[in-house]
Amino acid sequence: MKPRLVVTRTMPAPVAARIEAAFDPVFLNISGHFDPESLLDALDHAAAILVTPADRIEAGLIARIPVDVKILATFSVGTDHIDLAAARASGLAVVNTPDVLSFATAEAAMTLILMCARRTGEGERTVRSGQWPGWTPTYMLGTSLEGKTFGILGMGRIGQALARMAAGFSMRVIYHNRNRLAAAQEGPATYIADEADFLAACDVLSIHLPGGAATRHWLNPARLAKLRPGVIVVNTGRGSTIDDDALIAALKSGQVRAAGLDVFPAEPTIPPGYLDLEQVVLLPHLGSATEETRTAMGMLALDGIEAILAGQDPPNRIA
Ligand code: DGY
Repeated sequence: MKPRLVVTRTMPAPVAARIEAAFDPVFLNISGHFDPESLLDALDHAAAILVTPADRIEAGLIARIPVDVKILATFSVGTDHIDLAAARASGLAVVNTPDVLSFATAEAAMTLILMCARRTGEGERTVRSGQWPGWTPTYMLGTSLEGKTFGILGMGRIGQALARMAAGFSMRVIYHNRNRLAAAQEGPATYIADEADFLAACDVLSIHLPGGAATRHWLNPARLAKLRPGVIVVNTGRGSTIDDDALIAALKSGQVRAAGLDVFPAEPTIPPGYLDLEQVVLLPHLGSATEETRTAMGMLALDGIEAILAGQDPPNRIA
């Protein structure tokens, strides 16, 4: 008998095909709001669950997951939507999908950086609305990345991929992290140990922090004030790491020149203050959204599920 796998959201076709072949699947195909009861209702005889960052797996839900369920996989590298302590306490294994999304997420960050620097969101809106007055030497000038200092906050795998890309744009790349990395991981980036020095040096700041209580509102008024005036801020990590009211105020005052945001604290809701600001680029959490990457994420999640069900300890196990 194939083990029953309950899958909350629609999967890329190659991932769905593997699930059909290897498991007794229950596809919930949830779109939009996640209702924990709909998951719990589907768990009869289940051995495994595959969730996504859009599904909040809180302690109360974990406590009600039947003991026959051995493994909860998340289709994400981020795990702030899962109460990992509760999973550990109840003996529920958890796996995630690191590494395979690093390049795609770095690409999304680079997209936002270029869009902010060259005002391409605003430009595209202007063309589409028929408001383009025609070419003039002073029309819609942006700023070049060449020779600018690019700061990466959080030098994990995504930050490392982005450092290599940014060097191709002739930027000086610096990073700030709890610890300095080995030279091979640093690549072209220079470590700045002191947070204030790091912030003061950035012409562009890209935030790559995990979500959760420890990083909530990391970008707050005090840190915004330490940034170089006219800085570009980009976030492809988690929306909770930015104090949105403070960033909106800094955008309005010009302290921050432009912001590119792929993540928000209560997705899909966007803090309304951003919507009127031309210098803000807003994306719908597209960081890992390529066919190749989403397929690789699904396959890695399934590798983890199969390993746990076979009594092994996969490298992507986090609880
Ligand atoms: C993740 O994997 O945590 C991302 O946010 C999804 O792209």
